[in-house]
Amino acid sequence: MIPSPGGELLRAPLFHTPRNPFRESSALESYADGGLLIRAGRVATCGDYTSVRDAYPEVPTVDLRGGFLLPGFVDTHIHFPQLRVLGGLGRSLLDWLEHCALPEEARMADHSHACRVARAFVHAMVSHGTTTALVFGAHFAPATAALFEAADAAGLRIAAGQVVSDRLLRPELHQTPQRAYRESNLLIERFHRRGRLTYAVTPRFAMSASEAMLEVCQTLLREHPGLLFQTHLNENVQEIEQVARLFPWAADYLAVYERFGLSQPNAVMAHDVHPTASQLDRLAASGTAIAHCPSSNAALGSGLFPLKRHIDARVRCALGTDVGGGIGFGMLKEGLQAYLLQRVAPGGVLLDAAHLLYLTTLAGAEALGLGDETGDFRAGKSADLVYLRPPADSPLAAVLERDPSPEQALAAIFTLAGAESVREVRVEGSIVYRSASTEKR
Ligand code: GUN
Ligand code: ZN
Repeated sequence: MIPSPGGELLRAPLFHTPRNPFRESSALESYADGGLLIRAGRVATCGDYTSVRDAYPEVPTVDLRGGFLLPGFVDTHIHFPQLRVLGGLGRSLLDWLEHCALPEEARMADHSHACRVARAFVHAMVSHGTTTALVFGAHFAPATAALFEAADAAGLRIAAGQVVSDRLLRPELHQTPQRAYRESNLLIERFHRRGRLTYAVTPRFAMSASEAMLEVCQTLLREHPGLLFQTHLNENVQEIEQVARLFPWAADYLAVYERFGLSQPNAVMAHDVHPTASQLDRLAASGTAIAHCPSSNAALGSGLFPLKRHIDARVRCALGTDVGGGIGFGMLKEGLQAYLLQRVAPGGVLLDAAHLLYLTTLAGAEALGLGDETGDFRAGKSADLVYLRPPADSPLAAVLERDPSPEQALAAIFTLAGAESVREVRVEGSIVYRSASTEKR
């Protein structure tokens, strides 16, 4: 859909967190009768509807009252080839990889299958309100290309990369470091910085990557400015022991990545459930961000994430759904899981609605180096948004009828809203998803 050339003024209650609530007390901004002015795909301003309208009387209003506007969600850790293994409960990481995830990932060699899954995967993200994501691609270059093409066609902003590995998975998922270098280069040439796409160098984890493979990753990052880097770190106790055996020279898991210059501000490492104090200090000093994946950590029994230790050490943290180790595509649900697990974690952080909104939006944008582009509604940013309106007969609609405070309303949205409440999603002001019920409106 083509937005109106003179701009649009969206009218609805709106929330955003232009500041970090872990550092500042009034991070949440909300307007009960909000106005979000979009021009040429950017946020021109946001505030009280009447003051925005009075300042821009020529801009037509789109009346969205009855729902809520939030910045589009940013998922910082998700696996494209794992859509169809969601729900594989009852196993721990290494067992789950061997019996659930990797056999399915091997199917990505079939290109028509990969194209089908790519379309379904991208649709699942946007229909849950995700507008930006850092995605693990497939071990196969054509399947990874299918993911980029599907995201591009849908208008979704993603960073992604071919997953590279040369040991301990399944032979059909391995490639030599030379082949990984060649294929990654071709994908970088084709997709990096094309529209809303970014390439992310993606060794699966230290366990499945030889030193030569990690060196290839280092070389790719050196040779191409603006790439991201993603991998896994300190997720599971058995995995950590294996990494120690495979890299006897390394002081700890993080030291393996450090040796190849891979722990740096463009890096996002998933999980970090079991860090030492030294690793936290080094993550903070290097600027590496951690993708916290609470649902996956619980589902795979990996452990309780030490969020307070990360915050105290000033390690950058955001949230990831970790499909398919996690439990689905919903970043609202992931925020709620972060809250719930911190409630029961020893020394857990009591998260409020502002923390959850920040973790699911601006923190993710910052982790991906997109803090100036997306994640909140400050003027000049890309107009990336999700419009939520709960179904009339839903528990969330009933809660909101009581006219709660903005913080209570936002907490109720995190607790109760799912894909059924996502009515419209926009990236750079253009509609990338509209629910069937909204179409009929
Ligand atoms: N570590 C290596 N690969 C994976 C994966 O696919 N999922 C999770 N949760 N951890 C991993
Ligand atoms: Zn993962």
